[in-house]
Amino acid sequence: MDHFEIKGGAMHAEGVPLTDIADSVGTPVYVYSSATIERHARVFREALSGLDLGHGEPLIAFAVKSNPNAAVLATLAREGLGADVVSGGELLRALAAGVPADKIVFSGVGKTEEEMALALERGIGQFNLESEPEAETLSAVATRLGLSARVAFRINPDVDAGTHAKISTGKADNKFGIAYDGAVAAYARAAALPGLDVAGVAVHIGSQLTDLNPLAAAFARIGVLIAALRAEGHDIRTADLGGGLGVPYDPALPAPPSPADYGAMVQRATQGWDVRLIFEPGRLIVGNAGVLLSRVIRIKPGATHPFVIVDAAMNDLLRPSLYDAWHDIRAVTPTGERFVAHVVGPVCESGDTFATNRDIEAVTDGDLVAFMTAGAYAATMASTYNSRALTPEVMVSGSDWAIVRPRIALEALIAADRMPPWLSSGTN
Ligand code: LLP
Repeated sequence: MDHFEIKGGAMHAEGVPLTDIADSVGTPVYVYSSATIERHARVFREALSGLDLGHGEPLIAFAVKSNPNAAVLATLAREGLGADVVSGGELLRALAAGVPADKIVFSGVGKTEEEMALALERGIGQFNLESEPEAETLSAVATRLGLSARVAFRINPDVDAGTHAKISTGKADNKFGIAYDGAVAAYARAAALPGLDVAGVAVHIGSQLTDLNPLAAAFARIGVLIAALRAEGHDIRTADLGGGLGVPYDPALPAPPSPADYGAMVQRATQGWDVRLIFEPGRLIVGNAGVLLSRVIRIKPGATHPFVIVDAAMNDLLRPSLYDAWHDIRAVTPTGERFVAHVVGPVCESGDTFATNRDIEAVTDGDLVAFMTAGAYAATMASTYNSRALTPEVMVSGSDWAIVRPRIALEALIAADRMPPWLSSGTN
């Protein structure tokens, strides 16, 4: 459920008409609903209540990559969530937004020594290691700093998550995690390294998952591994089950499993584990809490159907061109009429297409449209391709709203370039 509804003829975010935001900030603009973000955090937490397996309530570490805006992170920190980070930049953002260091988990295949040192010095809760060479480097960095790194290995369970290939991470030939079959040996070697406190296991098989069975299969393998590791004398205290639960993008499709269904599956899968569970949801928390608001530049007649050319483009919402993702497109002030159209952005690539042959609410030049489910993996994946300014972000709370990232103006982008000496005037 979200808080984007038509009231009095216009779509609102909570109590604010989107037309007001567009008039004031301009378009394109991302609009987030804080009530929706809070609601999703609470629903997820409630779905996991009762999952204290002997080492405390689960830690819900929000996947910062899905939406790293400071206002979003601060909203979630206030709800008690931690953060799953994959870079020094995400770590600094989470800390700056008020996420306590001990609630931060650091994942990612390419952590550098600098990032490791930063995370160690800030005292993060856990490193999720993705390889044995990484374990050796982290041990060396920790030893140099006189610190100890609490670690889990991310296990690649070799299951097919049944999602888009580009967001599937749990097959043996994906770059993520260590091989399930070699895990016991890897733990033995890691336990012998001086700078590491080997504390847990981690798994994440992919994103936008709409079937719980691959997750259940992966968790079953993790349960077997935990027992095997304990039998070898490892003190396993945490199990990080990753993120990945899908959200509804297309109202015409069956809804993905609910957080409650997911929680019940986790409850069954983790019987007797005796660990603290960690979760890393991203999309589930913020996906439906944001829209990308855009204005129709013009309608261009097409061979079969018209092209609705909007002022948002693939650099604001990359998912349709990168993953053939489907986002609902709605008129902000619907008239009741519909038509079939292609919805495209102004970027000079055919891939800058949001929808093809789509039956949508009819719009005309100057109308506002909302790309739904743009709270996750939208602003965070934006670029300035075609020298387009970076799109601003707005957060709504009840009838209040605020700009939480202003438009990064083209002038600032142009000014960031430097002329090399041989092109500067006066050098010859
Ligand atoms: N944990 C790890 C280790 C991850 O790699 C990810 C996502 C998550 C948690 C959060 O997954 P979520 O709960 O949001 O599904 N750009 C793509 C999604 C990439 C996801 C990458 N990893 C998209 O727009 O669909």
